[in-house]
Amino acid sequence: MKGLILSGGKGTRLRPLTYTRAKQLLPLANRPVLFYAIDALVEAGISEIGIIVGDTFAEIEETVSSATCWDQEVAFEFIHQPQPLGLAHAVITAEPFLGADPFVMFLGDNLIGDSLAPMAREFLAADNPYASQILLKRVANPSQFGVAELEADGGERPGAAVRVRRLIEKPKDPPSDLALVGVYFFDQRIHTATHAIKPSARGELEITDAIQWLIDQRQAVKATVLDSYWIDTGKMEDILDANRQVLARLEPSIDPTAHIAPDAALSGAVVVQAGARIENSVIRGPAIIGERAVIRDAFIGPFSSIYHDVQIEGSEVEYSIVLEHARIQNVQGRIDQSLIGRYAEVYTAPPRPRTHRLMLGDHSTTGLAPH
Ligand code: TTP
Repeated sequence: MKGLILSGGKGTRLRPLTYTRAKQLLPLANRPVLFYAIDALVEAGISEIGIIVGDTFAEIEETVSSATCWDQEVAFEFIHQPQPLGLAHAVITAEPFLGADPFVMFLGDNLIGDSLAPMAREFLAADNPYASQILLKRVANPSQFGVAELEADGGERPGAAVRVRRLIEKPKDPPSDLALVGVYFFDQRIHTATHAIKPSARGELEITDAIQWLIDQRQAVKATVLDSYWIDTGKMEDILDANRQVLARLEPSIDPTAHIAPDAALSGAVVVQAGARIENSVIRGPAIIGERAVIRDAFIGPFSSIYHDVQIEGSEVEYSIVLEHARIQNVQGRIDQSLIGRYAEVYTAPPRPRTHRLMLGDHSTTGLAPH
């Protein structure tokens, strides 16, 4: 079985961060989101992984190729999709890589808590009658997702597997609260479907239309309801939530080259990476402090990921992600639920005149506390 990770796309909902970086490389607990998708495929026993890339191909190829975190031999093939014309278009683009093999398609900005290994085993079983297997998650707001309508019975219990009757994109009147998760199993029959469908109203070749085409051709499609979490990291709040999920599983560790001064207090699960310095500060985990980061006279609260080469002095940060080389200095009031980009600077302006001084990139968001 092969793996296909989709890391093209535009990432418009995460501007301005995605002007300068692929959204699949935004770090959760200081590792790119994409690496968790690769972890999930490797854990399911997959060693041939195709990665769909778009305009940001160079940094994705460089980041994945130079990573050393997968022990087994994993072969990556980067597949360039000239334009993000839809998830089914990505499958067409990957056809030479996929051949006639069954495969798992994983959206490179999605994070799931369940193991794919049991599903991969079932899908590969000789007596598997299904052309595709999709994953579903119960959500409170199904109208914002692709939603599955299942055959009667089943699907009510977590882990239950049932046949899909119909898929509907963002329904006004949802037939269920079961949203489609960005992980799909397919056999070679999907290729006939991707070539048979036409672009949707938004001009994309939709994978939901391709799966619906299979159902209409009387091919069985199976659904599995996830027990654990699913996060689509397309928006800032979702990235912070995904960061929280990953940090919640953090094993504490302190790199021997890190310098932790005697007046620093660390509690809970804290990871301190190589060369970091922590002085006269409180770090309350789960939290991660990146390589060469400097934390001085500061408080870092739970669910914070402080990336490499960040400097935080005289400030408090909680439930936030701070990207590399950002500097936060002498900020009054706690910075909370924030995503601070690379080389960004946050500081307290001189007392007179009493103004806010901002230099924000296009599409930035700033929430200022009332006086
Ligand atoms: P989306 O989040 O649907 O699209 P996007 O990345 O363009 O983001 P936005 O809506 O904020 O503009 O894409 C899901 C994943 O699939 C994401 O990792 C990008 C990838 N993708 C492709 O690789 N090719 C495509 O043609 C599309 C549409 C998405």
